Amino acid sequence: MSAPLMQATGLTLNFGRIRALDDVGISIWPGEVVAIVGESGSGKSTLLRVLSGQAQADAGQVLYDGQDVGAMTEAGRRRLLRAEWGFVHQNPRDGLRMAVSAGGNIGERLMAQGNCHYGNIRKSAASWLQKVEIEVDRLDDLPRTFSGGMQQRLQIARTLVTEPRLIFMDEPTGGLDVSVQARLLDLIRALVAELGLAVLIVTHDIAAARLLAHRIVVMRHGRVVEEGLTDRVLDDPQHPYTQLLVTSVLAA
Ligand SMILES: Nc1ncnc2c1ncn2[C@@H]1O[C@H](COP(=O)(O)OP(=O)(O)OP(=O)(O)O)[C@@H](O)[C@H]1O
Ligand SMILES: [Mg+2]
Repeated sequence: MSAPLMQATGLTLNFGRIRALDDVGISIWPGEVVAIVGESGSGKSTLLRVLSGQAQADAGQVLYDGQDVGAMTEAGRRRLLRAEWGFVHQNPRDGLRMAVSAGGNIGERLMAQGNCHYGNIRKSAASWLQKVEIEVDRLDDLPRTFSGGMQQRLQIARTLVTEPRLIFMDEPTGGLDVSVQARLLDLIRALVAELGLAVLIVTHDIAAARLLAHRIVVMRHGRVVEEGLTDRVLDDPQHPYTQLLVTSVLAA
């Protein structure tokens, strides 16, 4: 068995009296999609921020490819976020540069990696627009002229263009129409399979987790209460909270 791409142990983080993370451990292997599910306030976003080096835990350790993320310099962490990781925010405005054209949003990540051939960058931006099903003639348009679903697809193109090894997604289909959500999920699933990406995706949508994830991690009150292969967790949930989560979806 290969080593995990990322492995965290004992993560604990308090905000005043609130224990947002309580002794959380999580691993992800290359090419694996792991869904983090759980109620609002259970610590899902906080966990993603800590794993991606955007927040520091009070205790615990995050290893990426064997390196201690907490012990890295700021520059080292930024290089990882630029080159090896991608972060897809729930609100595309947090992940896009709204004053820069669609093509510029995609090209910028390539330039940050040292690509400087304008023609190639433009070509690659156009091909990524196609991949995420945005008309290529929108290349020079600003993201604010796009619909919410298009902005989210643009954010995904901007994130994936550099072919990161590990993607963090925080409710990427939140705030979108159900039909738009379904198409976006299909798109994410196809790209993830094509590129063999490792993805940690936060979602409260059990159907999305079933569609995308190999494994599911269930969080409650800052703790991991259950984890396992997707079918096992959803078809035979062991923890009472997971049972509630699964049956409430069936009943809905
Ligand atoms: N910057 C912060 N300052 C203070 N408290 C915070 C901060 N960030 C998160 N919290 C608290 O930590 C807990 C976990 O928050 P978090 O955003 O991780 O939950 P979540 O599972 O992502 O919820 P949601 O599904 O609503 O996005 C909550 O009680 C929240 O109020
Ligand atoms: Mg959240």
